Amino acid sequence: MALQLGDIAPDFTAETTEGFIEFHQWLGNSWGVLFSHPADFTPVCTTELGAVAKLKSEFDKRNTKVIAVSVDNVESHKSWISDINETQNTSMNFPIIGDEDKKVANLYGMIHPKANDTLTVRSVFIIGPDKKIKLMLTYPASTGRNFQEILRVLDSLQLSAKYSVATPADWKDGEDVVISNAIKNEDIPAKFPKGHREIKPYLRMTPQPNK
Ligand code: BEZ
Repeated sequence: MALQLGDIAPDFTAETTEGFIEFHQWLGNSWGVLFSHPADFTPVCTTELGAVAKLKSEFDKRNTKVIAVSVDNVESHKSWISDINETQNTSMNFPIIGDEDKKVANLYGMIHPKANDTLTVRSVFIIGPDKKIKLMLTYPASTGRNFQEILRVLDSLQLSAKYSVATPADWKDGEDVVISNAIKNEDIPAKFPKGHREIKPYLRMTPQPNK
């Protein structure tokens, strides 16, 4: 059965460019982003890994560990990292899993045979500190991902894990949020002391609680 939101992210052991890991143990109490790359020494992947390396401090701020996977071996990844650092003007600062036997790719359903028999698509899994899958994204090989969007989703997930709120379309950190429909009107003042606007009985907005 394909993985779904709320499932426990499959655990695995693997060699990476930063040594051997047991995935759940490596995650510890952090949030995690596991994202796949079709293959080493490919142009779009090279730009993606460089982009994530540049955003590492943003992931750190969100208590989030990032890890990439590509169906080549660690030696190949290490040699590719030299190119990533050179061409993307960065210094790789997170691990890439060596997945020559496609163990991780298959565990997470990252190979979509009708897109490509052997290479992964561009998958993203966000995993919570409870090890449950909070987000899954699937992009084709030809489209590089927007990692600002991954940070935005992390902000939303972390906010709704703490407060009874959801975030509206195109929301960004600092903007008003939606009060959960599970909260009764009479309970709003105590829970959301910054006030609220009722646009419809089912659409109640409040300033972001932690700002
Ligand atoms: C790329 O990263 O550029 C790429 C990888 C596999 C297929 C197509 C593009």
